[in-house]
Amino acid sequence: MSTSAVSASGLYRNFGDLVAVDNVSLDIEQGTIFGFVGPNGSGKSTTIRMLCGLLTPSAGTATVLGHSLPKEAEHLRRRVGYMTQAFSLYRDLSVEENLDFVGQIYSMPRNKRKDRRDHWMGRLDLERYRHHLAGRLSGGQRQWLALAACLLHRPEVLILDEPTSQVDPKTRRDFWRILFELADDGVTILVSTHFMDEAERCHRLGILDHGRLVTEGRPQALMQDLPVDVFRVSGPGLRDIEALLLQNTAVRSVVQIGDALRVLTDQGTDPSTIATLADKGTHVERVDANLEDVFVVATADEVTA
Ligand SMILES: Nc1ncnc2c1ncn2[C@@H]1O[C@H](COP(=O)(O)OP(=O)(O)OP(=O)(O)O)[C@@H](O)[C@H]1O
Ligand SMILES: [Mg+2]
Repeated sequence: MSTSAVSASGLYRNFGDLVAVDNVSLDIEQGTIFGFVGPNGSGKSTTIRMLCGLLTPSAGTATVLGHSLPKEAEHLRRRVGYMTQAFSLYRDLSVEENLDFVGQIYSMPRNKRKDRRDHWMGRLDLERYRHHLAGRLSGGQRQWLALAACLLHRPEVLILDEPTSQVDPKTRRDFWRILFELADDGVTILVSTHFMDEAERCHRLGILDHGRLVTEGRPQALMQDLPVDVFRVSGPGLRDIEALLLQNTAVRSVVQIGDALRVLTDQGTDPSTIATLADKGTHVERVDANLEDVFVVATADEVTA
């Protein structure tokens, strides 16, 4: 029996001539965190909106917790939590009032509403802002409030569109601790992000490019199996070395990181070919691929005839 909580098969979405989502198929196992990364405009939010039942696919099927979308979206309203990329709460209501209002939308009895609201305000460090207007909160505090709002009804599936875009690194760690706790409790999570450190934390990761799911798998496996070699080149005259490297057809990309160049080449490239390009005093060392390398390779523009 399949344990997929979320699955999509051959999902398409067009906006006029634009194919925003192009034949996306995926399965997310219950209790796991699936990450979505991809350049701006690659179709993450559009896919997410279809998986929430808010947007009708142009073709293909989407199933969440056994219900097909968008037809049975109403059955899922109480079982799915969705945090949009834009802030969607009431700016002129306080933290407490916003959460109360969400509880009312879910028709929660007064006591339950109060218990859940107080639980999440405590757990997500919102207690001290209880009476602050949502519109006056900092970016990070608003994200916590938005998370509290979509957890209030105890969803089995949580769909988060760039939830930490305004959150500092320490707070992002706290945010991810909560996500792992939820996953341990059996909640299935789909989360989009532009942060590679977050992508690396996911159980599985999908990379979208021009609407297509170009890469999918465990982050560790994606890094280990990346069919490129990666070199760190340091020394004087990095600009000149970069220009020379970019003339080499085996070189896929060069980027400066601090005082060194990170160079991706076709797999099997002899490091001495890199070294010969370099002046005396230049140091070349092979390094492991990281997730940003995976992202760069997966989303590199193909040359089409
Ligand atoms: N309602 C719409 N009408 C027309 N075009 C749309 C609509 N929604 C999205 N698009 C287009 O579809 C493409 C995918 O957009 P989408 O918002 O899914 O990208 P994204 O991967 O979430 O990007 P970002 O990282 O910037 O959030 C873009 O080219 C966007 O302009
Ligand atoms: Mg988006």
